[in-house]
Amino acid sequence: MLQEGKIYIGTSRKPDDSINKGEYLELKFGNRHGLITGATGTGKTVTLQILAEGFSNAGVPVFCADVKGDLSGIGAMGEPKDFLLKRAEQIGLDPYDFQEFPVIFWDLYGEKGHRVRTTISEMGPLLLSRLMNATDAQEGVLNIAFKIADEGGLPLLDLKDLQALLNYMGENASELSNQFGFISKASVGSIQRELLILEQQGAEHFFGEPALKITDIMRTTNDGRGAISVLAADKLMMNPRLYATFLLWLLSELFEELPEVGDPDKPKLVFFFDEAHLLFNDAPKVLVERVEQVVRLIRSKGVGVYFVTQNPLDVPEAVLAQLGNRIQHALRAYSPREQKAVKTAADTFRPNPDFNCADVITNLGTGEALVSTLEGKGSPSIVERTLVRPPASRLGPLTDAERQKVVDVSPVRGLYDEDFDRDSAYEMLAKRAAKAAEQAEAARQAEEKPAEDTSGGSRWTLPGFGDDAAEAPSGKQARPRSSGYKRETIMEAAMKSVARTVATQVGRALVRGILGSLKR
Ligand SMILES: Nc1ncnc2c1ncn2[C@@H]1O[C@H](COP(=O)(O)OP(=O)(O)O)[C@@H](O)[C@H]1O
Ligand SMILES: [Mg+2]
Repeated sequence: MLQEGKIYIGTSRKPDDSINKGEYLELKFGNRHGLITGATGTGKTVTLQILAEGFSNAGVPVFCADVKGDLSGIGAMGEPKDFLLKRAEQIGLDPYDFQEFPVIFWDLYGEKGHRVRTTISEMGPLLLSRLMNATDAQEGVLNIAFKIADEGGLPLLDLKDLQALLNYMGENASELSNQFGFISKASVGSIQRELLILEQQGAEHFFGEPALKITDIMRTTNDGRGAISVLAADKLMMNPRLYATFLLWLLSELFEELPEVGDPDKPKLVFFFDEAHLLFNDAPKVLVERVEQVVRLIRSKGVGVYFVTQNPLDVPEAVLAQLGNRIQHALRAYSPREQKAVKTAADTFRPNPDFNCADVITNLGTGEALVSTLEGKGSPSIVERTLVRPPASRLGPLTDAERQKVVDVSPVRGLYDEDFDRDSAYEMLAKRAAKAAEQAEAARQAEEKPAEDTSGGSRWTLPGFGDDAAEAPSGKQARPRSSGYKRETIMEAAMKSVARTVATQVGRALVRGILGSLKR
């Protein structure tokens, strides 16, 4: 069943239930994105698990969110349970080997994995507005706040920095309005109140330094397997906007930071968006358009994006059209919306003369799916009714003790666990922003080339691009200060930037990309 250059998904069956053939996802089309859909309990998470296993074994790092905690088992050896053995036999998977995978656990709250942070500056106005569910007026004010900060080359570290800048804007609203456009004091006030709410909801944990370096989710082991980064999302799901914004931010970072690679033999990274409907639920039109754009363009950076959701209608048409590899588990068809979903799902497949897709979709068993992947020159294969393979790793969660063990030997251990004190954190951000500004300019002139690999740890390897590994946030003063930079209060700096009299913080204005991340 196992073939070079392909991930084995499962085995399809003929109308008489006899074995038809193995169904595969070709690695060279792994960056052509995918969609896993189906009602609750139909097998989506297990499908995600076996795909993540396949990518990891092929040396492709994977990022996924663990919404219910059951994906953590991917870090442990599978167990020969009866129903799994039965499935293996049904599909002719012989031998059915068990395996544990190299996992890195992440958690915005730092409880079930390594901390993940970013800064306000790096998140940018578009995603921050989304996070706050800002009105148009509020978004206008936020845009001005970032304009003042960016043009002044003034990086914003955390919610407090943004609060300070907003204070300043409120106090000097009429003056600033002349230069930057209308600033309503009422909107400033309402944003400030929203920020307080965000803080109370725990979003403050997420803003600060050391910020996540994407190279840390792109590690491979020395035996050539891709690290599987698992984000603990059970608690995070209680704040769906933070969940969605975080994932979009990560996507945006990947997009801005990774070099162009065209269509590689296999992806550089695969990104699974579980509960993808949360990304698009009442998201403003511009945001959806930008996401569509990033999904389209990120392919040539070698990143595959896989959306996992209950209903194909959860994903906007323009995004749906980008998703080449499709695994459709069972759907119900009671309500009109459900019936429409079945029809949409059925219509998107390249038909199989042996069956009617819409009929089959409502009759698929657990762990069974309609599968169509890209083949040949990149066209979708004829859809096949497929029994998905059982995972090689454990089906079900790790115990707390097992999880802790994984965290203890993690290659990023110690890199993210402590908050930086504000001064050194601010300095790091300023340095990175300066570098980003520089590179954005340099990029216009020179063509980017991937740098050489650098090693991190004994078992793990870091990809070689982006920030250099020596800048890992392990020592607070690892490097001399850049260009005599000195920490100032936001007030002072903002004042200066408004007056446009003094040298800027990072030398140059910050440049933002499609989703508003700092451009590299
Ligand atoms: N490929 C599979 N092989 C064996 N059992 C499976 C498979 N897929 C799903 N199952 C069974 O179905 C259960 C529910 O699957 P799950 O992936 O958690 O559903 P969903 O994510 O769609 O809610 C699993 O716990 C497992 O018992
Ligand atoms: Mg699930």
